[in-house]
Amino acid sequence: MTKAIRVTGESLSWEECEPVVDVPEDHVAIDIAWTAVNRADLMQRAGAYPPPPGASDILGLEVSGTIASVGAGVRTLKPGDEVCALLTGGGYATRVVVPAVQVLPVPRGYGLREAAAIPEAFATAWLNLYHEAQLKPGEKVLVHAAASGLGTTVIQLATALGNPVFATASTDDKLEICKRLGASGCWNRSNGSFVEAVTSWGGVDMVLDPVGGSYIPDDQKVLNVDGRIVLIGLLGGRMGEVDLGLMLVKRQRLIGSTLRSRPVNDKGDVMSALYQNVWPLLAARQIEPKIDCSWPIEEAEAAMAYVAANKNVGKVLLEVTGSDPAPFCEAKCTGV
Ligand SMILES: NC(=O)c1ccc[n+]([C@@H]2O[C@H](COP(=O)([O-])OP(=O)(O)OC[C@H]3O[C@@H](n4cnc5c(N)ncnc54)[C@H](OP(=O)(O)O)[C@@H]3O)[C@@H](O)[C@H]2O)c1
Repeated sequence: MTKAIRVTGESLSWEECEPVVDVPEDHVAIDIAWTAVNRADLMQRAGAYPPPPGASDILGLEVSGTIASVGAGVRTLKPGDEVCALLTGGGYATRVVVPAVQVLPVPRGYGLREAAAIPEAFATAWLNLYHEAQLKPGEKVLVHAAASGLGTTVIQLATALGNPVFATASTDDKLEICKRLGASGCWNRSNGSFVEAVTSWGGVDMVLDPVGGSYIPDDQKVLNVDGRIVLIGLLGGRMGEVDLGLMLVKRQRLIGSTLRSRPVNDKGDVMSALYQNVWPLLAARQIEPKIDCSWPIEEAEAAMAYVAANKNVGKVLLEVTGSDPAPFCEAKCTGV
């Protein structure tokens, strides 16, 4: 029996749905063990981020699980393999069909629970730091929403690869964790603009900005010559001012970037780059996904409310048919 989370008006329910039958030539079917809540799921649920054409309308951008079957052209994966996958949708379900290039074996030494926390954050971090912004060793990064699932990944990955990170978040407790993960500078956004703090840290060569809105002019003020702003979200609104004079004189670049809407081959390239460059760091535990807490899939509603309230530091996971023993709803999740 195939089940999935269905969104009806304001509410979510875990219901039987159409079974997955066809597995196209270059795809695999995965029996899902774990999935994760991403900010994009909240936006999709609110009607503000529709799935790209052809994608599943079921929530969920990443999973871990076991390969159930493979299409005729797939050589690199086989039934029974434990994997994690980057999706364009369909993760809040018991089974998903996904292009094989978006699937990787779980890193050595990892269980399925931890593996579900990897694909979306690590693919987004790699894509934007090293493909879009083309960071060179020693160049410095400012990341906003640094305690998010994505931010905690960016801090670790950039630091491990020789790019110092300045983190912004809304509480001192969150920033303490950012520092422990490797951030060498930080600013509590509840205390106002980050400009002075980042400037006295020496400025940055790149801003990874999921906020937009009023943050763009301040991002520009802290960028060194030839700096790049990669805009990946609009938490602060879609309209903002750009100082074209500063942009011209300091040779700044403003780059918009989304992972989900990219073609399958581009996503495959990002996953290959992760396998080559990041999987060894994960296996060595030099970096690891920061997991905040887990919920049973039937409690997706509560898990999403927890994320919407900006309470998480790192990833929030949903157990579908999980096999690893999981500490459900660690202390601070209880009762949400
Ligand atoms: N373009 C892409 O391809 C792509 C891919 C993945 C993620 N993203 C974006 O990256 C961001 C992080 O994703 P996630 O799923 O890891 O998020 P998450 O864990 O849900 O964390 C989001 C955090 O953003 C901060 N925030 C919320 N509203 C804000 C505001 N108005 N101004 C400043 N900060 C605010 C909050 O932390 P504080 O209160 O501590 O600041 C919140 O905890 C999201 O905006 C997401 O849409 C984009």
